[in-house]
Amino acid sequence: MLIFIYIQQVDMFKFSSYLRQVLLSALFLSLIIMNSCYYDNEEDLYKNLQTVTCDTTNVTYSGSVAPLMQSNCVVCHSSTSAGGGYAFDSYDAVSSVLSDGLNSRFWGSINQLSGYSPMPQGGNKFTECDLKKIEIWIKAGYPNN
Ligand code: HEC
Repeated sequence: MLIFIYIQQVDMFKFSSYLRQVLLSALFLSLIIMNSCYYDNEEDLYKNLQTVTCDTTNVTYSGSVAPLMQSNCVVCHSSTSAGGGYAFDSYDAVSSVLSDGLNSRFWGSINQLSGYSPMPQGGNKFTECDLKKIEIWIKAGYPNN
């Protein structure tokens, strides 16, 4: 009886050390595999960070809004060729359509809200960051700065 228990214990011991070895090598292997599949990709790593980094300090007409108008809108909306009657090639022209602020056709169009012609026509919608800057500028009373 005693001998039997002894043998059983030795067997159990052997078995558990075998099991431990198998588990350890499985763990080790999976670590290697996981490691080899993981590689840093700058775009993936900083994708979310970039959307968070939107510098909205010192938003001005000349520094923030005018350049956006110039490169995305003026081609169709200048005082000499005002698509839909709108011109965005000067502060006076832009500010003249903003008396309704965030309820203006201007704001509705660049945010591509329903009921407004999406602008820029045929181009990409402004980024969230650009829209944020324009919003800040409009809310500040669209100063000529
Ligand atoms: C490729 C030419 C083109 C570009 C680029 C363009 N527009 Fe327009 N836009 C038009 C035309 C044409 C109309 C008049 C017809 C219409 O409303 O769709 C118009 C109409 C508008 C209107 C009146 C829309 C409404 O629903 O009352 C606004 C506001 C406007 N544009 C703003 C902009 C702004 C801001 C930009 C730059 C982000 C821009 N547009 C870029 C051609 C353009």
